[in-house]
Amino acid sequence: MDTIQLNIKHVSDFLSEEDILKQSAQATACNQALYDGSREGNDFLGWVALPSSITEEELREIEDAAKVLRTHCEAVVVIGIGGSYLGARAVIDALSGSFDWLQEPKERRNPVILYAGNNISEDYLHELMNFLEEKQFGIINISKSGTTTEPALAFRLLKDQLESKVGKEEARNKIVAITDTSKGALRTLATTEGYKTFVIPDNVGGRYSVLTPVGLLPIAVAGIDIRKLVGGALEIEKATGPSTTFDYNLPAIYAVIRNELYRQGKKIEILVNYHPKLHFMAEWWKQLFGESEGKENLGIFPAAVDFTTDLHSMGQWIQEGERTIFETVISIKEPKRKVTIPHDERDLDGLNFLEGKRVDEVNKMAELGTRIAHVDGGVPNLLIELPELNEKFVGQLIYFFEKACGISGYLLGINPFNQPGVEAYKKNMFALLEKPGFEEATKVIKARI
Ligand code: PA5
Repeated sequence: MDTIQLNIKHVSDFLSEEDILKQSAQATACNQALYDGSREGNDFLGWVALPSSITEEELREIEDAAKVLRTHCEAVVVIGIGGSYLGARAVIDALSGSFDWLQEPKERRNPVILYAGNNISEDYLHELMNFLEEKQFGIINISKSGTTTEPALAFRLLKDQLESKVGKEEARNKIVAITDTSKGALRTLATTEGYKTFVIPDNVGGRYSVLTPVGLLPIAVAGIDIRKLVGGALEIEKATGPSTTFDYNLPAIYAVIRNELYRQGKKIEILVNYHPKLHFMAEWWKQLFGESEGKENLGIFPAAVDFTTDLHSMGQWIQEGERTIFETVISIKEPKRKVTIPHDERDLDGLNFLEGKRVDEVNKMAELGTRIAHVDGGVPNLLIELPELNEKFVGQLIYFFEKACGISGYLLGINPFNQPGVEAYKKNMFALLEKPGFEEATKVIKARI
């Protein structure tokens, strides 16, 4: 097995083959629309061909910029929010050692990757700046619009700290900006200050941008092979082209099943993992599907749990709560490491029955036992299997979900490539902060407090 697999055996108690097949022509048409641009959102389809269109020159430029930061920095702060942050973090966490960041600097092969601009917590920023005080650090500042408040605020603080520490000249060589080709405050700032920059293509939205420099630069700085990642994505791009028949188009099958379950009242999809390294993969997935489909009073609510941890918190709800959920499990066939359970002479913990087994065997039985229990409890279950957690299969998974999301959004009848609802909180926040230009909104909102 050299590719990710979709196992739909455990939806058969809830959906018939006929339920699935009746949507096949429509799903194929939705997939084709991602290529011919015949539906809404057609100005944001650049992601579809990203894996096949990235050039050797572009990859090398990213790797060269990563090398500069890797050479000169013990820590690199990735500033960004939403689509300008989650993809990089998902891949870096999935493919890095869980405790690498705690290693002594001389043992470390890669800079520590830290994140900012994804919240406005004063404590977080203060503690981050404290941590950076004694470190050689660099910054990758990512904002497509170049005007988002959270990253702009974090950058103002960290730029000031870096310049005070190493001087303006040296700071300039440790800052990379990734933004629009010409618009936005970050573009102006980067041009004025003379930073190294990368462009986020106009036709790629934030949450579909992990395979642009937005994701690839931080991922390369973390020491991960971006060529293998893009190569994995390319395999799924090729396998799901416009002429692919429904039966072979895994993202289309996933999209149809989730839409059919939604129609039958399964309003919440829970993405399940059994490895803490996948926590941020689920955060990325939540944004991808939530921001793409949650509009016009429609859309599955994407939720996520980390098992077996959350079996001891959310497990009860999933087993016996309101039957409006289905699960999609990401399963890793072969873990990277090997830990065998030892014999214990006195067996006081009663675990000698597991002696000689690998920890992963226990994890797998928890996974299987939980799937069966949840299906018995009325929770349809989809399974996405990765042979291993490596660059190639993570690349495949990313493209699989992106393609599925595009098809699924079109099946739902919405535009999966805009996010009008994200503006409402910003307008209120600016009004409350009395930002120039928001005077009328300030009066209105203050009258409501
Ligand atoms: O997917 C999206 O479009 C959003 O999540 C954006 O990525 C997020 O709001 C950050 O925007 P920007 O990159 O313009 O700062």
